Amino acid sequence: MNRLKGKSALITGAARGIGKAFAQAYLDEGATVAIADINLDGAKAAAEDLGARAYAVSLDVTDQASIDAAIRAVETRTGGLDILINNAALFDLAPIVEITRESYDRLFQINVSGTLFMMQAAARSMIARGKGGKIINMASQAGRRGEALVGVYCATKAAVISLTQSAGLDLIRHGINVNAIAPGVVDGEHWDGVDALFAKYENRPLGEKKRLVGEAVPYGRMGTARDLTGMAVFLASSEADYILAQTYNVDGGNWMS
Ligand SMILES: NC(=O)c1ccc[n+]([C@@H]2O[C@H](COP(=O)([O-])OP(=O)(O)OC[C@H]3O[C@@H](n4cnc5c(N)ncnc54)[C@H](O)[C@@H]3O)[C@@H](O)[C@H]2O)c1
Repeated sequence: MNRLKGKSALITGAARGIGKAFAQAYLDEGATVAIADINLDGAKAAAEDLGARAYAVSLDVTDQASIDAAIRAVETRTGGLDILINNAALFDLAPIVEITRESYDRLFQINVSGTLFMMQAAARSMIARGKGGKIINMASQAGRRGEALVGVYCATKAAVISLTQSAGLDLIRHGINVNAIAPGVVDGEHWDGVDALFAKYENRPLGEKKRLVGEAVPYGRMGTARDLTGMAVFLASSEADYILAQTYNVDGGNWMS
């Protein structure tokens, strides 16, 4: 398949998990992909794993100088950015009465400010080049409603859905489509960490929360990163030119809206 042939993509947080699976799918469709992550060693290992059109870029989405340098690295390497996936994020969990300012600030810095200022830098680069582009933000079913122990993360993902709407409406005049994907529960290292936090706060054995959330998915199991790649390729392709400001649930039927 060559739906992204010749396109230059940057995926944040692509050293592992869903971001790495997106990178694989984009490479399979003919794109060149910057594996941008705060974990540079992980990004280098992922790029080596993924093959010749993947390359590692050091990126901390909370640091403006790092964002600007990452965009410049893509421009230098490929001549210009066509596709951004804002995938990097952090999760935390605590009852409302135990939330710390430190956790709140860190989650909002990475999940919300990181998404906004990566979109801004990518859009500036795309506008200067004059060829439009595609931006995909990673939201979550957590952004569709509150959850008792997940207040801060849910709020960050609700903000991502809102920013996707505003940026989508603002940037389409430059030929830039902004949309988002809202996954449900996706198995991987991220959810191992989530499971351990639920084990602590809900007094469960390790692995139990994961089993329960998987059984509750109407499709019958947790998602895999691979379950999300079709939507990520579609939204980056010319087939999605008329789509903007939307957030698509890819969650095995967990949420309907
Ligand atoms: N896994 C799920 O069940 C699930 C569900 C809904 C939404 N999501 C969303 O999908 C996306 C990917 O999730 P995942 O499960 O692959 O997560 P993950 O934790 O496995 O990967 C996150 C990546 O982001 C990187 N990162 C963290 N802070 C960064 C920073 N400041 N700058 C740059 N990179 C940074 C990490 O090093 C890591 O490689 C996230 O936005 C997440 O919120 C995941």
